[in-house]
Amino acid sequence: MEQSYVSSIDLRSLRDALGRFASGITVITGMVDSVPTGFTCQSFYSVSLAPPLVSFCVMRTSKSWPGIRLSRRFTVNVLSEEQQAVSDAFAKSGSDKWKHVDWAAHPSGKAIIAKTLMWSDCSLHSEQELGDHFLIIGKVEEMSPVDWNGHRNPLIYFRGQYRQLQSS
Ligand SMILES: Cc1cc2nc3c(=O)[nH]c(=O)nc-3n(C[C@H](O)[C@H](O)[C@H](O)COP(=O)(O)O)c2cc1C
Repeated sequence: MEQSYVSSIDLRSLRDALGRFASGITVITGMVDSVPTGFTCQSFYSVSLAPPLVSFCVMRTSKSWPGIRLSRRFTVNVLSEEQQAVSDAFAKSGSDKWKHVDWAAHPSGKAIIAKTLMWSDCSLHSEQELGDHFLIIGKVEEMSPVDWNGHRNPLIYFRGQYRQLQSS
């Protein structure tokens, strides 16, 4: 049954306050009937090392999540500082997100984006409906090799804008 939430907190103030939490940016990808799918996701975080669990939240309105859910497998691609255009492309629902993106389909059913900081391939461990999002827990089944793409800097999102690490 649908839960209703009553809150006295103004949405704009909430967004503004939460936007002061800086994070990296990922693209969650999947292969659905041999077709790649995915969306930009900031809410990714690590949950547990043993067992290896990670998590993110996806909007209930996401068009790509239902297919990924059915496949019960997804890959987290952590974007590097030169991948702002990739983040923008995967944040547009219904567009041809893969057109200008350098990526490869792997025989085991992964869609891996090139030039990222790392990727982590997960099985769907659990999913919970929470407000206007689903809270997803994934079990890490495979990781990018340690020498994947050398030392790239992360793409950072802070106060509604992309940022880059400043070298000190
Ligand atoms: C910087 C940034 C971070 C985002 N983080 C999330 C997120 O954590 N969860 C989510 O569901 N959508 C997030 N989005 C929005 C989705 O990427 C966007 O709604 C996308 O169109 C969904 O695509 P889909 O409908 O094809 O699944 C983010 C967008 C941007 C630009």
